[in-house]
Amino acid sequence: MLERRITMSLSQTRLETYEVTLEPSGKTIIAKEGQTLLDAAIRNGIQIPYGCRHGSCSACKAQVIEGDYKLMDRVSEYSLMSFEREEGFVLLCSTVAESDLVVEIEEEESDVPFFPVYDFQAAVVDNVPSTPDIHIITLKLTEPTTLRYAAGQFFEFDIPGLEDTRAYSMANPCREDGTVQFHVKRIPNGKGSNYMCDLKPGDFVTGSAPYGKMQLRDRSRDMVFVAGGSGMAPIKALIEELFSSPYEGKAYFFYGARTVKDLYLVEEWKELEKKHPNFRFIPALSHLDLAEGWAGETGFIADVVKRTLPSMKGMDAFLCGPPIMIETTVDALSQGGIKGSDILYDEF
Ligand SMILES: Cc1cc2nc3c(=O)[nH]c(=O)nc-3n(C[C@H](O)[C@H](O)[C@H](O)COP(=O)(O)OP(=O)(O)OC[C@H]3O[C@@H](n4cnc5c(N)ncnc54)[C@H](O)[C@@H]3O)c2cc1C
Ligand code: FES
Repeated sequence: MLERRITMSLSQTRLETYEVTLEPSGKTIIAKEGQTLLDAAIRNGIQIPYGCRHGSCSACKAQVIEGDYKLMDRVSEYSLMSFEREEGFVLLCSTVAESDLVVEIEEEESDVPFFPVYDFQAAVVDNVPSTPDIHIITLKLTEPTTLRYAAGQFFEFDIPGLEDTRAYSMANPCREDGTVQFHVKRIPNGKGSNYMCDLKPGDFVTGSAPYGKMQLRDRSRDMVFVAGGSGMAPIKALIEELFSSPYEGKAYFFYGARTVKDLYLVEEWKELEKKHPNFRFIPALSHLDLAEGWAGETGFIADVVKRTLPSMKGMDAFLCGPPIMIETTVDALSQGGIKGSDILYDEF
């Protein structure tokens, strides 16, 4: 045991650190060997645009002016084109420093709170299969015992045997008792989702949190929420947060599933409707099985949104689900009059 501790501390002291100067502000941050520039920036309290944290959405694009760095293989040509790479553009979430760097970075003035990122350990309290492939997993933070985050954000989990982490969104607003719920969809052969869905009460998980910018902004507006599959998680947290204090506007939650078997928490949503006449839950099935006796909405969720709300001018929108659902719904919301800057989403 002692030998292992000594080896660990030796290897920890061997980690190089690099100074990264951010232009035009001139601020400097320290990035550890192997740490992504985005992680180094966020942990140093620098607010910069980002989304997926895995090299897909291109939100964290920046230009390295000086120094050596490595762009991770996970960045596709689609996310960062060859000509951009030749000009020194990188995706900060997928770039590690190999020397001191100077990086031109777009810092943000954020209109939402910024919560510091911490490493965490948590114990599994409960793991309940809620549809054929979605598990509701409840964790209790053990180190630290509470962690402040905003509804709509996500945790990054370490997955044994994987270098990369996996993101899962919190399904409840921040609670004092340190319990956090997640909805995880089991992906066939998916390493992270199978690890999460196979967790047993008493197991421990580690990672870092919180991340993400999909947060409530202006409570004076009407709001439209749209989710598919396990995308319900952050939307549930946002809606619970919205109704945790008086809200005078109207809120609509459109939830897309394939069949009746893929719906979950329907009773909870109906209860919320009864409690708040200004809230509507509109589930819709895309692959209706007549034998299931469904009397609700059918079709793709973007079409259901369009049919239900012909005009959405002045509303804020929050979406979470698979890329095709996000793409078609963003189109529908734009046609309904919502400005692009008022549509926030996480796709997965
Ligand atoms: C910001 C953010 C928040 C997220 N929050 C959640 C959440 O709350 N709940 C949740 O369930 N997931 C969430 N995800 C997705 C999650 O992080 C993983 O990407 C997902 O669980 C797949 O990881 P995996 O390791 O199981 O699959 P991998 O081992 O990475 O992939 C295995 C195979 O499955 C394919 N694949 C990956 N994802 C899908 C998919 N959705 N459908 C079909 N095939 C797929 C891959 O292309 C690959 O071929 C979130 C992602 C992001 C970026
Ligand atoms: S590509 Fe870096 S945050 Fe999405």
